[in-house]
Amino acid sequence: MKPEPTQASAPGKIILFGEHAVVYGRPAIAAPVTQAKAKVTVKSARPGSGLVLVAADLEMRAALDTAPVDDPLAAAARLTLAHVDAPCPDAVAVIRSTIPIASGLGSGAAVSTALVRGLAEFLGLKLPPAEVSAIVFEVEKIHHGTPSGIDNTVIAYEQPVYFVRDPRGSEHARIEPLRVGARFKLLIADTGVSSPTRLVVEDVRRGWQREPARYEALFDQIGAIAEAGRGAIERGEVEALGPLMDENHELLVELGVSSSRLNRLLAAARSAKALGAKLSGGGRGGNMLALVEEAGADAAGERLTEALKNAGAVNVIETIVTPSTAERD
Ligand code: PMV
Repeated sequence: MKPEPTQASAPGKIILFGEHAVVYGRPAIAAPVTQAKAKVTVKSARPGSGLVLVAADLEMRAALDTAPVDDPLAAAARLTLAHVDAPCPDAVAVIRSTIPIASGLGSGAAVSTALVRGLAEFLGLKLPPAEVSAIVFEVEKIHHGTPSGIDNTVIAYEQPVYFVRDPRGSEHARIEPLRVGARFKLLIADTGVSSPTRLVVEDVRRGWQREPARYEALFDQIGAIAEAGRGAIERGEVEALGPLMDENHELLVELGVSSSRLNRLLAAARSAKALGAKLSGGGRGGNMLALVEEAGADAAGERLTEALKNAGAVNVIETIVTPSTAERD
């Protein structure tokens, strides 16, 4: 018998380079953030009760057989059951997440990933990342409309990735695990403003339809930065990342996806000697990243955290992008 209750989790994510342009086929780089997580617990319920989904933080409870088709949690559960060809179990799945919602850290994809994993494991199956990612991509379409697929990919694979979307779907995307040459430390500061990605992506689309040549040129420049960022990360040239982050942010400002609160945090990061800074994710709110100078990283990190909080950040978390195990050994 499988151990009960079944537990599964999924990390949040940051986009280091290339958000928005990635929707238009340019490369992007993302990394998981394990300091914020979505967790799912699944346990058996009385026979005939069906599957009940409980979003504990949102105080929401829904029975799978009556939940609307566009309910993302119900969609994740239905797609998982269809994928593994299993009937609906009598069980309760409780979902919790420490990833702020609509803040650029991939909370929707993380919650779906944890649920897909938890449900599959409850049924005695361990799905490979590619299958989890493909299911979550379908759910992301409900959240985002036209997701690039980067969120479900980096969260399901749980490693830094270089990603190029394919219009045929997430399973055709170019996904390359990123070799990280040297560790680097980032602070992730939350503006406290939730900003649904779907709306920002739609605004960018309207801009692109209005001025295709200008937007295509901006996407090209962002794509070139993502390529340069990939090289710098692989070679372990951490100092080269800062200016690339700054340039990427300026291009996001030109796309119209920054905000005064984000820009205030960016300015504070730069005055407190961050090596570079940019918004991360959909923008207009949500989170920004600041690269901490390596020498004396602890003191530098503390100074930066203080500066970000003084400039209005409601939360600051620290994450370290590390070389993969193969490189460390
Ligand atoms: O806001 P998030 O965490 O969902 O990130 C969105 C990234 C975008 O490039 C803006 C959209 C996408 O689908 O890639």
